[in-house]
Amino acid sequence: MSIRLIVYPDECDAYGHLNQASYLALFERARWELLRRGPGIDVFERAGVWPAVRRATIDYQAGVWPGDELIFSTELVTRGRTSFTLRQRAVRDSDQLLVATLESVFVCINSKEHPVAIPDSVIAALGAEPRTVDLGNGVTMAFDEAGQGDPPVVFLHGYPFDRTMWRAQLDGIKGHRLIAVDLRGFGASASSNPAASIDDYADDVAALLSKLEIPRAVIAGLSMGGYVALAFAERHRDKLAALALLDTRAGADDDKGRQGRDASIATIGAEGTAGPNAAMMEKLFAEATVAEVRERVAAMMARATPEAMIAALGAMRDRPDRHGVLRDMAGIPTLILVGTEDRLTPPEMSRLMAEAAVGAELVEVEGAGHLAPMERPATVGEALQRFLDLVV
Ligand code: MLT
Repeated sequence: MSIRLIVYPDECDAYGHLNQASYLALFERARWELLRRGPGIDVFERAGVWPAVRRATIDYQAGVWPGDELIFSTELVTRGRTSFTLRQRAVRDSDQLLVATLESVFVCINSKEHPVAIPDSVIAALGAEPRTVDLGNGVTMAFDEAGQGDPPVVFLHGYPFDRTMWRAQLDGIKGHRLIAVDLRGFGASASSNPAASIDDYADDVAALLSKLEIPRAVIAGLSMGGYVALAFAERHRDKLAALALLDTRAGADDDKGRQGRDASIATIGAEGTAGPNAAMMEKLFAEATVAEVRERVAAMMARATPEAMIAALGAMRDRPDRHGVLRDMAGIPTLILVGTEDRLTPPEMSRLMAEAAVGAELVEVEGAGHLAPMERPATVGEALQRFLDLVV
């Protein structure tokens, strides 16, 4: 959940800048507002503890002025027995620029000011940390998990998103173990070597399945996640129980597309991610998509690092056409789903994939753009549930 706050003139200094104390106060207000909308502002009091700040590091990225509307997102970075670290990001709504990041370390203390174990209710309020697995190739893969049942389903996010885009599906789909991963370099997945190709991401997913001792899984990928799912289908067929391709395509980039990738790589290298992210935000959603979803997506994109985005752009630029993989899907149940208002990978691309994958089911979701699982979570959840109920 993200919180929007407006900067008022009385919070700014004589030069019109948001002053340092007010910056911290806005971050603090965003934290409490988040609790107010969730477990309640008295969540600590009810548990008999208080979160004492032990260290706070603020990283200012850009000036902020009266009237600016800031979107705050919060994530739990680490959790110990008595302490935890929260990372908050503030993104300016008008240009989607990341303006500041605050990392705060808290210790839970009791009324005698002694550190105490973080109570379960507080852990739940802070949100679960992702699980991580060292893949042994320089990549520590982070993922969220929910549910039980075979075959498990692995969800792969698009560019430049992360595992949190699948939150509604992890909450809603029944009867399967559900795993939403952060691809190499994105979200909470740490990597000492950036992906050189889409195949690298697919091999990471296969390595994760081996580490988790999962012999076969349904692979569900959105957009770039779909490119990875197709690479997985080509390279790790023995591990594939079924394939779900959402808002994606099987074709390679054409010359114009490849030039666009190179231009984005150059811009991100020189100026950072804000420009390309803002340009992408313009094209992502259906007309009716609500502000809350748009804000969540903007905050998620602002979290992606330049390194991860540059690596992914190079990998997407060089990926091959994989319609041939779809023609060879005999015996593998395949679902193809697309938002009717998807402008980045329009429905025609999904229809082409459905023609190639004989027997595939094609679902077109009204009122969704490129991020159908976030824009129309109920419709997409029902389509996935129907599909998964038939997969054994
Ligand atoms: C995505 O959502 O993953 C991107 O739109 C994929 C792409 O740029 O080709």
